[in-house]
Amino acid sequence: IWTTEAFVEESIREIRARVGSKRVLLALSGGVDSSTLAFLLHKAIGDQLTCMFIDQGFMRKLEPERLVKLFKEEFHIPVEYVNARDRFINSLTGVTDPEEKRRIIGHQFIRVFEEESRRLGPFDYLAQGTLYPDVIESADTNVDLQTGERVAVKIKSHHNVGGLPKDLRFKLVEPLRKLFKDEVRKVGRNIGLPEEIVNRHPFPGPGLAIRILGEVTAEKLNILRDADLIVRQEINQNGLYHDCWQAFAVLLPVKSVGVMGDQRTYAYPIVLRIVTSEDGMTADWARVPYDVLEVISNRIVNEVKGVNRVVYDITSKPPGTIEWE
Ligand code: XMP
Repeated sequence: IWTTEAFVEESIREIRARVGSKRVLLALSGGVDSSTLAFLLHKAIGDQLTCMFIDQGFMRKLEPERLVKLFKEEFHIPVEYVNARDRFINSLTGVTDPEEKRRIIGHQFIRVFEEESRRLGPFDYLAQGTLYPDVIESADTNVDLQTGERVAVKIKSHHNVGGLPKDLRFKLVEPLRKLFKDEVRKVGRNIGLPEEIVNRHPFPGPGLAIRILGEVTAEKLNILRDADLIVRQEINQNGLYHDCWQAFAVLLPVKSVGVMGDQRTYAYPIVLRIVTSEDGMTADWARVPYDVLEVISNRIVNEVKGVNRVVYDITSKPPGTIEWE
């Protein structure tokens, strides 16, 4: 019978046996998989582990700071924070196509990962939060044909792109490879991850860059971050977090007319996207109480400069998608 305790003990033994006294690199995203992975590895091999967090500048307000603080101060796991914000936003100048944005962000991610792993390395192993469904999907692409061993030919990130250069090869450590998502959550909880990580809503790898329709600018990122924080605060404070699959704000690249005081305004609309779902494949718009929607709308228009209108997306998936890009 499978228990989290037995799994954790067994994994720690296996990691130690595999890694010996070598160094391991791990790319932390703040999600439950990479966080659970970091905990397990840190328990097993302590400072032979290096956790790297690449800040693309597209996370939600206060999240990068929160993640680094949690790991450093509460979990006592050191994190190499890489500030790559300028580089990512600069690479998106003039880019409006959603798939092009994803491709560029994925490409930048690999380049930063490569540079930083050379700077901090060398490392023999790369720890990946590969889960059972991922193993099945990439059954042959990650196997060294000579040794039959699984090796990293690309890094599993939320970006699904990006081959690693040939001279940068790691052996893989994948202690979660036999688990499904709900089992990872159980393990994470068992080894002491807080609920805020264990139950975190899914967040796309390209982050806010695909929630700003059209070109991403620093001004729009600031507007969206502030609006998005209000959505999260109100969803949390009204006890709705666990009822929904995702709850977020989207910024549209159009302006409409409004009035504030005796002034006419001409500013962006914010779309609220709050959905229920079992697995993200299909979804329904959440029946959020009107008074909560009212507070969110009032707060966004009053507190976020540059926004004069809030609309609620009442499209299910299909035919809509959860994200707007
Ligand atoms: P859609 O918009 O396709 O989203 O209904 C389904 C789920 O996938 C997430 N999503 C992404 N996750 N990289 C990711 O890591 C992406 O490019 C991406 N696009 C969508 C979305 O947040 C939802 O949970």
